[in-house]
Amino acid sequence: MKKQISILLFLFFGTSVFAQKTQNLSLTPPMGWNSWNKFACNISEKIVMVAADAMVSTGMNKVGYEYIVIDDCWQVARRADGTIVVDSTLFPSGMKALADYVHSKGLKFGIYSCAGKLTCEKRPGGNGYEVIDANTYASWGVDYLKYDWCYTDGIEPIKAYTDMSKALANSGRPIVFSLCEWGSSRPYKWAQNVGHLWRTTADIVNCYDCKTSWGGMGWALILDKQEGLEKFAGPGHWNDPDMLEVGNGKMTYNEEEAHFSFWCLLAAPLITGNDLRKMDEKTKSILLNKYAIEVNQDKLGIQGSKIYDEGDFEVWSKKMSNNRTAVIFFNRNDKEFTFEIDWKELGIKQNRQLFDVWNGINSGTVKSTKTLKIQGHSVKFFILK
Ligand code: GAL
Repeated sequence: MKKQISILLFLFFGTSVFAQKTQNLSLTPPMGWNSWNKFACNISEKIVMVAADAMVSTGMNKVGYEYIVIDDCWQVARRADGTIVVDSTLFPSGMKALADYVHSKGLKFGIYSCAGKLTCEKRPGGNGYEVIDANTYASWGVDYLKYDWCYTDGIEPIKAYTDMSKALANSGRPIVFSLCEWGSSRPYKWAQNVGHLWRTTADIVNCYDCKTSWGGMGWALILDKQEGLEKFAGPGHWNDPDMLEVGNGKMTYNEEEAHFSFWCLLAAPLITGNDLRKMDEKTKSILLNKYAIEVNQDKLGIQGSKIYDEGDFEVWSKKMSNNRTAVIFFNRNDKEFTFEIDWKELGIKQNRQLFDVWNGINSGTVKSTKTLKIQGHSVKFFILK
């Protein structure tokens, strides 16, 4: 009971340290790249450096991507004094040198650890080492920490994440804190003053709507789990439906375009998870679409939500600054669908201008009805002005 009261008091009063020191970080959803979805444990400093190079050479940095984040498997042990040991075979130059390299490209550097005793890949976790680790990360020049939830038996999530949050806030370096607790303890209800983003579900899988035995799922199922969470998101604190699978080769382009459209409308962190060296033109055209990104990065920071549901056909919208509204028409069926839009029924006023995000063109004005043909597992994405 005493422990719970002190946690509550901390959440109300003590968090000012975190809030004061990091309040200007992530005023819009973070954008970047993470090694996990494509490389899992097959990482190395070369892969990270090449990702940083590619983020610049492809122009991703110009449209807002900035974080280069190493996920699990970079750490191997702890020294007698508790400091973490980096895998020197995979990262022979060390993390400080790698962070310097990423910074030299004008980008930011992120790393991964876990609130448990071990990470999910059984590397040393952060439990009990929060202050040492936060200070080590700060000394390397880390700008972003993703903090996982494996091997946490008997550990209380609010306390575990708050301990790391405090340690980061006191490390002397502004560090974005990404909670990866998979939504189990409903972090959207308590994490606003603890971190900048929190995962809302189990892991994304590279597919449209498949499910795995361990709880992983395709993006369309993750999307369903975001309903009702919109009230918890805003500048500096975001629901995180997990990293992007765009460009990883198992979905159709339409499915990838729809995936990206929704992550933009949800004001989700846009953390790419593909091999940035090997993007084809279509993948680039999705990940670098400046209009979709404008929807994601809108300064109001409103998470979009579903406004219409007719089985396989859904409409989602997001309020934007300057009286704009982003709207997605989504066909969940695998067959083409023709939809007669009744704007009035959707609560959308007449005569607003329609801008087609994926075609990059104006597409007339809102008249009383409009016929839309949408291919299977696809969207039409508009900004109404
Ligand atoms: C999972 C996490 C993934 C990835 C993986 C690494 O728990 O959700 O995004 O970080 O661990 O082991």
